[in-house]
Amino acid sequence: MLKRIVSLAIIASFSAGAVFAAGAGAKNKTQDWHFEGMFGTYDKAAAQRGFQVYQEVCAACHSLKYVAFYNLGDKGAPFYDPEYPNPNDNPVIKAIAKMFTIIDGPDESGDMFERPGITADKIPNPYANEMAAKASNMGAFPPDLSLITRARADGSNYLYSLLTGYEDPPEGMKLSPGMSYNPYFSGGNQIAMGAPLTEGRVEYTDGTEASVDQMAKDVVEFLTWAADPKMEQRKRTGWVVLIYLFLLALLLYGSYRAVWRDVKH
Ligand code: HEC
Repeated sequence: MLKRIVSLAIIASFSAGAVFAAGAGAKNKTQDWHFEGMFGTYDKAAAQRGFQVYQEVCAACHSLKYVAFYNLGDKGAPFYDPEYPNPNDNPVIKAIAKMFTIIDGPDESGDMFERPGITADKIPNPYANEMAAKASNMGAFPPDLSLITRARADGSNYLYSLLTGYEDPPEGMKLSPGMSYNPYFSGGNQIAMGAPLTEGRVEYTDGTEASVDQMAKDVVEFLTWAADPKMEQRKRTGWVVLIYLFLLALLLYGSYRAVWRDVKH
């Protein structure tokens, strides 16, 4: 046991060192997120808009490999509909899956072929492989976004800050060719992803105005859900357990009083 604690402490100190070595970016802009706090839940409308932003903007470069289409219709997910407890029957989920092209195969003649997505498919990778992704992005790899809000410290605020943080480089700073300046990005504040969001980049189906700030917030809501899809369930279970323990405590106290009622002490 002690050995394990010591080795954990050693690992922790090394990883802390690594974070500092990478050179931290600017302090994140902090938002009041709907999903924060003990009662926090995902804002479903925002997460649905966020999926639209992912699909129309980010999906050109970033995969979301741990999310299958039917996950979008699971309980607690952006497109959950109580009428369809099985998300594979949900027409909205079917329609979303159909919009994506899946490379499947090989067929009988050994060739790969394209087909529209079905609910059981994972959201497909825009690139055939990592090398192809790098080749299209000046050698930089657009990371998978399934767990990105957990893979970065203070992930949701970081992602929001990164997406809204593009600005002109400070006087005297020379950017490498093709790079953009973003003070929130830790790698020397130069990032190989050009500002992906611009005013009105998507046209929201619910009529919300697509400002950069709005799109950033919405895509963060969606990607936070993707990284922690069971959050609402977990919080609900936590409350049920607390209430149960509280009632149990009352009951135990009551029976303690009853048992000792006639005993002088
Ligand atoms: C044209 C391609 C392209 C598009 C579109 C794009 N990205 Fe990126 N993204 C990249 C590349 C390339 C990198 C790697 C940057 C680097 O390492 O310098 C990256 C990196 C990132 C990172 C990681 C930053 C870090 O801390 O390491 C996040 C998060 C991210 N993108 C989110 C998004 C989101 C959200 C969208 C949609 C709103 C989006 N990207 C759209 C190409 C793209």
